[in-house]
Amino acid sequence: MKITMSVIKADIGGFVGHSSVHPDLLENARGILAGSPLPIDFHVTHVGDDINLIITHEYGKNNGDIHQLAWDTFLSCTSLARKLKLYGAGQDLLADSFSGNVKGMGPGVAEMEFEERGSEPVIVFMADKTEPGAWNLPIYKMFADPFNTIGLVIDPKMHQGFLFEVRDLIDNKKVTFSCPEELYDMLVFIGAPGRYCIKSVYQKGTNEIAATSSTQRLNLMAGRYVGKDDPVLIVRCQSGFPAVGEALEPFANPHLVSGWMRGSHSGPLMPVPVNLSNPTRFDGPPRVVALGFQLCDGKLHGPQDFFADPSYDLARQKANEVANFMRSMGPFEPHRLHLDEMEYTTMPDVSKRLKNRFEKI
Ligand code: 13P
Ligand code: 13P
Ligand code: MG
Ligand code: MG
Repeated sequence: MKITMSVIKADIGGFVGHSSVHPDLLENARGILAGSPLPIDFHVTHVGDDINLIITHEYGKNNGDIHQLAWDTFLSCTSLARKLKLYGAGQDLLADSFSGNVKGMGPGVAEMEFEERGSEPVIVFMADKTEPGAWNLPIYKMFADPFNTIGLVIDPKMHQGFLFEVRDLIDNKKVTFSCPEELYDMLVFIGAPGRYCIKSVYQKGTNEIAATSSTQRLNLMAGRYVGKDDPVLIVRCQSGFPAVGEALEPFANPHLVSGWMRGSHSGPLMPVPVNLSNPTRFDGPPRVVALGFQLCDGKLHGPQDFFADPSYDLARQKANEVANFMRSMGPFEPHRLHLDEMEYTTMPDVSKRLKNRFEKI
């Protein structure tokens, strides 16, 4: 039986400010999904102010009915958010009506279809206060770095490496790199995560899907500042894919990502359990949650809230130290994002006002 796993997410109103999701919205979303005959199973959760719908079904990727279900869920939660006057109600819903696919309409989507293996451990990563490129470094470590993933060295099923589909989000192009042979070529691009994002990873030879992420850039789509994309990532584990612990390992060392405070700052990505994924300090620092599921005929057994583990305490401490250091820069780059990245914030309005003050020299 082919199973499709769809993770569809949106920020449709923060509680309080941009820190979290009101429990009534999560309950409402659960009620709607429970009332639909389409999912085999679902799990509704949140990271910061983003609602994440994790749905398993048999209808394949980009299925109109599944996307409609997610859209209707977000729409219903939006009216509730408006009623509760939650902050930024309907923030991520860029269109007024649904046209068959939530892609390009605001919500983020990561979907994969696969034949369920004898045992199918899957991790859903979800981040808040950051952009899709935030996954580049951890995906690189999981699937291409033997210092992170010893399986690349000692597991004959991983030794040949992986294929990486990289998207250019500015020019809307894609390219596939075969690694390890093309590692250095790939790093030229994925080292610039504001533009190039790893969309998917495939097992070499079988072309079996190993990982896939959401890559929408809200601000590029809307042409104005709306909020950060707050991306999701699905990773299949074990038996030819990274072990669960290899997929989690990159987050033990928080890396700097874009998207903190007003989508305009760089800060460390702090791994946290769901109940600690409520960004506070300077609306951050950016958070990542990892939920493990053991699939059984499409049923989602779990979640295992991986970053609740004390072995991530040091990562959190380090993230706090790095956050402290970055904050000391205040409005200066590189804490504040580079000018190109500030184009899609509210800053251009301020610089427009000052334009005529500049004299030729
Ligand atoms: P077990 O021996 O517990 O199955 O672990 C195998 C493994 O690869 C863990 O990383
Ligand atoms: P979100 O993208 O999570 O809504 O955050 C926006 C923001 O401006 C936080 O400071
Ligand atoms: Mg928000
Ligand atoms: Mg958010």
